[in-house]
Amino acid sequence: MTDNTTTYAPGLEGVIAAETRLSAVDGAAGRLTIAGFPLEELAPNASFPEVLYLLWHDRLPDGAALAALQDRLAAKRPLPPAILDLLSAAATRDVPVMDALRMAAGALDLDVRDRGERMAETAEMAVARFPTIVAAYRRLRDGEEPVAPDPDLDHAANYLYMLNGERPSDAQARALETYLNAVCDHGLNASTFTARVIVATQSDVISALAGAVGALKGPLHGGAPGPALDTVFAIGEAENAEPYLRRKLEAGERLMGFGHRVYKVRDPRAELLAAATERLYRADGDMALYQLAKTVEETAVRLLEEYKPGRRLQTNVEFYTALLLHGVGLPTDLFSPTFAVGRVAGWTAHILEQRETGRLIRPRAVYTGENGRSWIPLAQRDAT
Ligand code: ACO
Repeated sequence: MTDNTTTYAPGLEGVIAAETRLSAVDGAAGRLTIAGFPLEELAPNASFPEVLYLLWHDRLPDGAALAALQDRLAAKRPLPPAILDLLSAAATRDVPVMDALRMAAGALDLDVRDRGERMAETAEMAVARFPTIVAAYRRLRDGEEPVAPDPDLDHAANYLYMLNGERPSDAQARALETYLNAVCDHGLNASTFTARVIVATQSDVISALAGAVGALKGPLHGGAPGPALDTVFAIGEAENAEPYLRRKLEAGERLMGFGHRVYKVRDPRAELLAAATERLYRADGDMALYQLAKTVEETAVRLLEEYKPGRRLQTNVEFYTALLLHGVGLPTDLFSPTFAVGRVAGWTAHILEQRETGRLIRPRAVYTGENGRSWIPLAQRDAT
């Protein structure tokens, strides 16, 4: 039967598929609200556990609630030996970091049995362990021993400590924490939608998170910051920006870190991260690189308007993500996994919200195949 519909929206563009109290994206005005707070107010001021608590409980924690959450996160950070073995096996095969994270995230319920009743606890465990997985895997892959989490360090500082084996500067820890807060949630983006679809079938938290990591990995979602930084390095000098970017656009290539399905003005996260990146580079980094990136950004936006007039392609979150994460010392292949370390806050909040309020998510497709075929026995079929 032909399943035609008059409301087909390719890419589900403009389709409302859920209600959420978690975040609101205003693409026309370039505003992002997280549980009632403007992102630009929340992200630079809050600690990551405060943002987590806000997403999970719809209010800021008091001192006692925050301390209790921090203690529980610290207690859950260490990885069980079975996950470390899995990561070691992946490292010997040089599996990409996002794939190792997906595998280990999918195995996080090895020691959690009654998943349905303990969703919130499982969510907390996953948020606590995502940074430990990424850091341990990075070290194993580079032939180093994993560094055990330090319970005295907070979430962002501890992540850098587990990666590098030394405590980060305050400027680095604060820049990373601002980044994690900035990407904590963003409406019904592809990975969050994936997580909600999975858990809406009454599947479990860990399955939803493994699916979300898989969705985030693609270059049209969370995989863009590495290539965005590569572009800045390939350009090298301000005067090369225009010819280099023109060549890319004339070859029909996309400029990574620009364009967005929802934002038709500058992504507010780009604004926030540009400011955080400037603070970090002024305190701790290479201002010449920051200035070059600004030139690349200005040139790219101008050329995108020339080559794609009316498309309103502006800087997205990934461009300054690349600069900021480079500034805190992360290699490019950790950019997308670090996005997951922040976004797991939103994924878990959406998973809990979907299970409370949601229905099975089951859209339809327009059938464009053949009709009226008759079965042909194998011996009578043509080779073509
Ligand atoms: N560079 C060059 N052209 C672009 C770009 C870009 N970065 N983005 C869109 N366009 C062009 C397309 O080629 C298309 O042109 P056409 O109509 O002449 O064929 C037009 O703009 C519309 O593009 P769509 O693909 O329909 O836009 P969509 O809303 O699906 O894409 C997306 C959004 C995927 C982010 C796109 O802008 C893109 O590919 N950007 C580069 C990758 C990137 O930065 N990804 C990170 C996104 S942020 C995040 O997910 C966290």
